[in-house]
Amino acid sequence: KPRFFTGIQPTGLLTLGHYCGVIRHLVSLQDNYEVIIMIADLHAFTVPNSVLNYHERCYEMAALLYACGLKEENCKIFCQSQVPEHLFLAHLLSPFVTVGSLSHMIQYKEKKKNEETGNLALLSYPVLMAADILLYDADLVIVGQDQRQHLELTSIIARKFNNFFGQNLLKIPQFIIPDQGAKIMDLRNPTKKMSKSETDHISLLDTPEIIKKKVARAVTDSENKIYYHPRKKPGLSNLLTIYALLNGWEISEAEKNLTGLGYDQFKSKLTQLVSDKLVAIQKNYDFWRTMIEVLLEKNTNYLRTQAGNKVNLLKKELKIFSLPRK
Ligand code: TYM
Repeated sequence: KPRFFTGIQPTGLLTLGHYCGVIRHLVSLQDNYEVIIMIADLHAFTVPNSVLNYHERCYEMAALLYACGLKEENCKIFCQSQVPEHLFLAHLLSPFVTVGSLSHMIQYKEKKKNEETGNLALLSYPVLMAADILLYDADLVIVGQDQRQHLELTSIIARKFNNFFGQNLLKIPQFIIPDQGAKIMDLRNPTKKMSKSETDHISLLDTPEIIKKKVARAVTDSENKIYYHPRKKPGLSNLLTIYALLNGWEISEAEKNLTGLGYDQFKSKLTQLVSDKLVAIQKNYDFWRTMIEVLLEKNTNYLRTQAGNKVNLLKKELKIFSLPRK
């Protein structure tokens, strides 16, 4: 089976943005691929947090991902820090990227608000991300819109590396950024992507009451007519996108379904839809939480073997010191 790879940081709990952008795709294609999801705890550590329990958060996030409908036999979720080869490969890739190009990355510039936050880990973040992707010879990688530049850099680094050593040591995967849902916006501030740090994100663990409140106060416009126009109607178009995606429809089908309704009626339909979806996920969550420790251990062993094989092969080709194996 072709291998699908993606990563998610464990900084906050999963949001509806993660679900619409990436998770729902993996759920629907998992039968035809081997899906690998990495919980990027080392990436989360680029902005260290002394209060966050990374360990516990990794378990929660893995359980919640499985609760979204990913199956144990199709999908291997693991935690980045458990496979040291990520850092090893990142080091091997580092000479193939300049500090100048890293300092121009959009996310670096956004996160580096001042000299103090512009730290080395944040700067080299895209190199670690390239290593994550290239370590497993993935065939496909799926991400949301905000990660596009990191994927482009991954290809550039891999190509330089392969050229330098004169052979295709690193496999460049196909990159997938979905047409719809790759950038779900914040409900109150629909010019910003929905994320844990924004004012009104919907968490996958929100209760129906909270969902109702958040949808009710989502920003729309005064036209009271439902159609898709992200520039003129960013708030409404975002809600419409969520409504279409959760129904498994095209936007045009969603527009048709809502013809003649006002915003209040639309919002109550949307509230119902989101609540039904999330309540179903939440019902599975406790079950997966009890299973997750054993499952992560099994997945980790599998991925350690994969990563170890790849690094051994690179060491051999690059003539890096290795003690003879007994
Ligand atoms: P992260 O943790 O910020 O987000 C995880 C994935 O979810 C997507 N996403 C969204 N999609 C649509 N709408 C939104 N509002 C939204 N918010 C987040 C992101 O684009 C991402 O695909 N650097 C990565 C994690 C990572 C990774 C990797 C990904 C580390 N190594 C290797 C792929 C391959 C990140 O911070 O994603």
